[in-house]
Amino acid sequence: MSGLANEYKAINLGQGFPDYQMSDELMSKVNEVMHMGFNQYVPMQGYMALRESIAEKVAYLYGSKVSPDTEITITPGGTYAIYTSLTATLQPGDEVIVFQPGYDSYIPNVEINGAIAVLVDLKFPEYKIDWNEVRKKISDKTRMIMLNSPHNPTGAVLSEEDMKELQSIVKDTNILILSDEVYEHLIFDNIPHQSMLRYPDLRQRSFVCFSFGKTYNCTGWKLGYCIAPADMMKEFRKVHQFNCFSCHTPSQVALADFLKNKEAYLSLSGIMQEKRDYFIKLMSATKFDLLNSSGSYFVCAKYNRISDEGDKEFAIRITKEYSVATIPVSVFYKNGTDNKVIRFCFSKKKETLDEAVERLIKIS
Ligand SMILES: Cc1ncc(COP(=O)(O)O)c(C=O)c1O
Repeated sequence: MSGLANEYKAINLGQGFPDYQMSDELMSKVNEVMHMGFNQYVPMQGYMALRESIAEKVAYLYGSKVSPDTEITITPGGTYAIYTSLTATLQPGDEVIVFQPGYDSYIPNVEINGAIAVLVDLKFPEYKIDWNEVRKKISDKTRMIMLNSPHNPTGAVLSEEDMKELQSIVKDTNILILSDEVYEHLIFDNIPHQSMLRYPDLRQRSFVCFSFGKTYNCTGWKLGYCIAPADMMKEFRKVHQFNCFSCHTPSQVALADFLKNKEAYLSLSGIMQEKRDYFIKLMSATKFDLLNSSGSYFVCAKYNRISDEGDKEFAIRITKEYSVATIPVSVFYKNGTDNKVIRFCFSKKKETLDEAVERLIKIS
């Protein structure tokens, strides 16, 4: 859709990235440390001071004690952290519970390891997890459950009740958890983020993956990290050692310091909530019906008052005819389930949202 957006000079509300500038201070810090000489490899696990800052952050946010030495590894982005966690643990024939719709890397990352993605549909239109369905799909081959909250593409978030269900399902089993928490700070309406790190019994079986790109409006930096118990992290590092090995040094040095500024990450949910609310208000003048979004960059919308086209066809047509690009949600399903819903990304400047909605209003 981004390709089509460029071709038709459309406003791109499809792909998830902010169209505004990241922190000046953070950019200057990177520049500064480069001039100071931080331009060579750091250890494979990541720059130690950054790992220490991460440990302080998760202790503060989630009350979780994590060893910077043995339980944190810096990675080139969240996607890589997810891939590495799966590759470190899956064997051919293992089953992995994957919810759909879901982030597009999950299923290929499971399958490339010879494992089987056992799919569970989130309940439309709230996109909640049906835990009874999960129970039915668990077998003696289930190696892992993959979770993502706040969720791409739907903006759904896990609740305390969900965590209780998860705890009861994995209790007394060897099932591992992969928790994609790249949108941990993009959560709205004062809802607490249900990190696996808050729950000792879940934390001790979880790879938890994060992304600095999402937290600091710099998706192009491709820097993130994974937290896991020492024995699991040891396996993770065996894969990482011979793949990426060492991540971009100056960014790590700058972030080690910048991460201590709590306001910089705590302010994000308010900023993004304001964008979500602004977009919802503008969209009330259109014929789209927005679904609930409690987190992430995204809000989904039904368009049945406009058309009964399939979602791909519809998304392509409005890109071409109205110059606004979105993402059809069926692409986040392996079997292409089409609930006739498209995804909008609202992490954009007000002017971008204004201009896009001005065009969307014209669709009848
Ligand atoms: C759910 C989810 N996980 C991971 C990522 C990727 O994070 P990164 O760019 O740090 O690899 C994205 C990016 O869109 C995402 O939506």
